[in-house]
Amino acid sequence: MAKEMIVVEGGTPLAGEVRVSGAKNSALKLIAASILGSGESVIHNVPLISDIVVMSKVLETLGARVKREDHTLVIDTADIDTWETPYELVSKMRASISVLGPLVARFGRARVAMPGGCNLGARKIDMHMVGMEALGVHFETDHGFIEASTPNGLHGAYVALDFPSVGATENTMMCAVTAEGETVIENAAREPEIEDLADMLNAMGARVSGAGSPTIVVEGVPASSLHACEHTTVGDRIEAGTFLVGGAMTGGPVTVRGIEPGFLRMALMKLHAMGCSIDFGDDYITVSRDGALQAIDIQTLPHPGFPTDLQAQFMLLAAVAQGNSVITENVFENRFMFADEIGRMGARVTIEDHHAIVEGVSSLQGTDVKATDLRCGAALVLAGVFAEGTTRVHKVHHIDRGYEDYVGKLSSLGARLHRELDEDIDW
Ligand code: UD1
Repeated sequence: MAKEMIVVEGGTPLAGEVRVSGAKNSALKLIAASILGSGESVIHNVPLISDIVVMSKVLETLGARVKREDHTLVIDTADIDTWETPYELVSKMRASISVLGPLVARFGRARVAMPGGCNLGARKIDMHMVGMEALGVHFETDHGFIEASTPNGLHGAYVALDFPSVGATENTMMCAVTAEGETVIENAAREPEIEDLADMLNAMGARVSGAGSPTIVVEGVPASSLHACEHTTVGDRIEAGTFLVGGAMTGGPVTVRGIEPGFLRMALMKLHAMGCSIDFGDDYITVSRDGALQAIDIQTLPHPGFPTDLQAQFMLLAAVAQGNSVITENVFENRFMFADEIGRMGARVTIEDHHAIVEGVSSLQGTDVKATDLRCGAALVLAGVFAEGTTRVHKVHHIDRGYEDYVGKLSSLGARLHRELDEDIDW
């Protein structure tokens, strides 16, 4: 695909209403979960983003048939006849490894390429393996692949995760669905997407309880009793948070619809502490601001703590707030690439280990910047909306991984921006 950039003319306030898509981080795992029940599963509210295209290819490589009708995916897993996911797909998207758990649960085996390095730090998968090993999975590495087998079948177990890893919780939970007896996952991740996945698993005939709490209990059922199902993906809290930051930055009011406010409690508290007014109902949140934006201290933590996926967006807010803010990244190492890019626009950010010290400035200047990951990319486009002059955000394929029609949605809020071919420089 041709390389594109997003060109933003700064200086227009954002106001109005936008509907968020289904959660990327949920939909990817729901697609993987469809492997568990032979037949045609239907998943609604799936975002139109490139990561979903990659996950659909992962399923097709296994032998499933995937049809998309608007925001609905119909996945027929009856004819899955291979258990291998190649490096070509895993290297494009790490979340491909979430097929490990369901493949092992349904077929007793899987062969998945090992994810390589990634720009968010080490990002190991040791906890995924520890969790599944406790259930009886035997792992071997072979020429860059992880080979999983179950020589003695799967059995329920007590699994205590060292850290509430989202991916490890999901893989262990999906694997445990067909293990004989009871599995208890302690120190489980509590992200709303885990609850969404558990709801789909239960709709397929699994018996999962406690999702959303630190202790998940799975009563194993025979693989043959699982069936296809119909499920609707929850709204994307990170997309919602990104547009709310846009509203907070320029004054708003900006309303996001299709999101449960409880998913964003910590982020909303921070917006409030920065001087914003928040209004919300069952499925919407509105942010507005009259006074000055105030500095804030933020620490990223597993849910319900402040999400690492909103760290770059809030760094942007801190960069244009009054006073000094400290942002501490506890979930991923090396997740401060945004600081270098926003620095090119005039922000003052100093990184010390896993802390960013942000000295607020009153204006930013448009220039050429590049998206280093999808959240950095989304935040740079917002920075362009605030900045004086023109900002060109390169490497927008990162944004396309996780934001459906980002340009269209921001335009509907009043931003002046468009996509263009990016041919001059090899960004
Ligand atoms: C998911 C999300 C990502 C989000 C992250 C944290 C998807 C597709 N991605 O990523 O957007 O930023 O949760 O909310 O859902 N770790 C290990 N060993 C493991 C597993 C993880 O050391 O076996 C470490 C990671 O390197 C990282 C931390 O644990 O430092 C958190 O990772 P994890 O919660 O697993 O994130 P992901 O599932 O990869």
